[in-house]
Amino acid sequence: MAVKRQTVSGSPAKSLGRESRSEYDETAPAFAKSAVRVAVLTHSSATDILTLSPAKGLRGQVSIPGDKSISHRALMLGSLAEGETTIQGLLLGEDPRSTAACFRALGADIAELNSECVRIQGVGLGRLQEPADVLDAGNSGTTLRLMLGILAGQAGRFFAVTGDRSLRSRPMGRVVEPLRQMGASIWGRAGGTLAPLAVQGGSLKGIHYCSPVASAQVKSCLLLAGLLAEGTTQVTEPALSRDHSERMLRAFGANIQVDPEAKTVAVVGGSRLVGQKVQVPGDISSAAFWLVAASIVPESELLLRNVGLNPTRTGVLQVLQEMGADIQIENCREMAGEPLGDLWVRSARLRGCTIAGDLIPTLIDEIPVLAVAAAFAEGITVIRDAAELRVKESDRLSAMAQELSRMGAQVSEHPDGLEIKGGIPLHGAEVDSHEDHRIAMSLMVAALGAQGSTLLRGADCARISYPDFIPTLQRLTASSLES
Ligand code: S3P
Repeated sequence: MAVKRQTVSGSPAKSLGRESRSEYDETAPAFAKSAVRVAVLTHSSATDILTLSPAKGLRGQVSIPGDKSISHRALMLGSLAEGETTIQGLLLGEDPRSTAACFRALGADIAELNSECVRIQGVGLGRLQEPADVLDAGNSGTTLRLMLGILAGQAGRFFAVTGDRSLRSRPMGRVVEPLRQMGASIWGRAGGTLAPLAVQGGSLKGIHYCSPVASAQVKSCLLLAGLLAEGTTQVTEPALSRDHSERMLRAFGANIQVDPEAKTVAVVGGSRLVGQKVQVPGDISSAAFWLVAASIVPESELLLRNVGLNPTRTGVLQVLQEMGADIQIENCREMAGEPLGDLWVRSARLRGCTIAGDLIPTLIDEIPVLAVAAAFAEGITVIRDAAELRVKESDRLSAMAQELSRMGAQVSEHPDGLEIKGGIPLHGAEVDSHEDHRIAMSLMVAALGAQGSTLLRGADCARISYPDFIPTLQRLTASSLES
């Protein structure tokens, strides 16, 4: 990556209070009004290094990009439905692009991706075509695991699936094993627990599966397989994971029953899916970076628009509020079966807390940036019951312990979590994203609150879930990025 140097000068930005909301104009960003150095990432060089210096306050508003989980599901269900599906607000990150590429190869007519309105002509359940080549899920666990459930029931057709180096090291046995119990024929490395995998589509039968992990990917994979299975497919999980599949499957016409008390969901095989209009709310996992950045950098005030507030995803708000964050929710509404609202966040003194138990699945992707919040909070933060983080795009417990320690944080790593003694000022350092988008963005946030410059290797992978993260950071900060 080459980093270009560019200087923008002008008059200092005005203080933006709540009453001056009209100034939150994304087309006239704060940085355009103040003297800042702007880092420009280009994709042309192999170095991919970003240098960041401390921020003096983040101000403005952000339209949060589309929810990644909902974007994947909209592309998949649109491909499986009969008739036309339209998707508004689709996330244009690399992960949904992988899903779109796979389902195009499987015969769905998916128009060029954009965030306004994407049209899909679905092929109908069980009518995917046998692709001429290997299906590549890239970096996306959701694409690969959910797709396996869909492919397993496509009788008489053969599929080969793979992903990038990170995805090929992630556990697939958690879906392959229950799919085999349903009658699926799947082979792969390490006894079918690692991609590349091969699937011979065939007939499936419903089972009741008690998952040992609270994973929406496992649950969704089996529900999707259940659409084509004989009888009922039930999934019970140890704690409730995100329920976007249940909501969207119901909207598309599937026969779904949910029993939250029993943490069980059931789908009856044989229903038809009918194309729908899907509106994708902003991803709270992406909003989380701004929530923490504005909390830890003094004199910050941000308005985050269009944030999905599905209760299976809002653990990050609960924890930040317990830590003393100043977050207000307004304009709560519902859009295509998903709740959303706008969030105000202002700088605050944070204090440590404990994050554990059934809360973990509701904030699983936000733990790296919550670890950053913990490093800036007074006292000790304990994160437990989060061993799942070790099998994400990177080992996120080890990555955050290692990289925050380089910046001077006191972090101890445990098999299922972290213990962070906060309140010790962080200093800039050379850090690494471990090629994991959420680690990259979390470290950018940490750098904003640290003293001195931070050099981040592998910043570019933020594009997996948040293509505009770095330009948005440039817009919201004054003098926080340099090349
Ligand atoms: C996701 C579920 C979670 C989450 C991932 C997206 C989904 O994974 O970490 O980013 O869209 O279903 P697990 O199901 O493995 O917990």
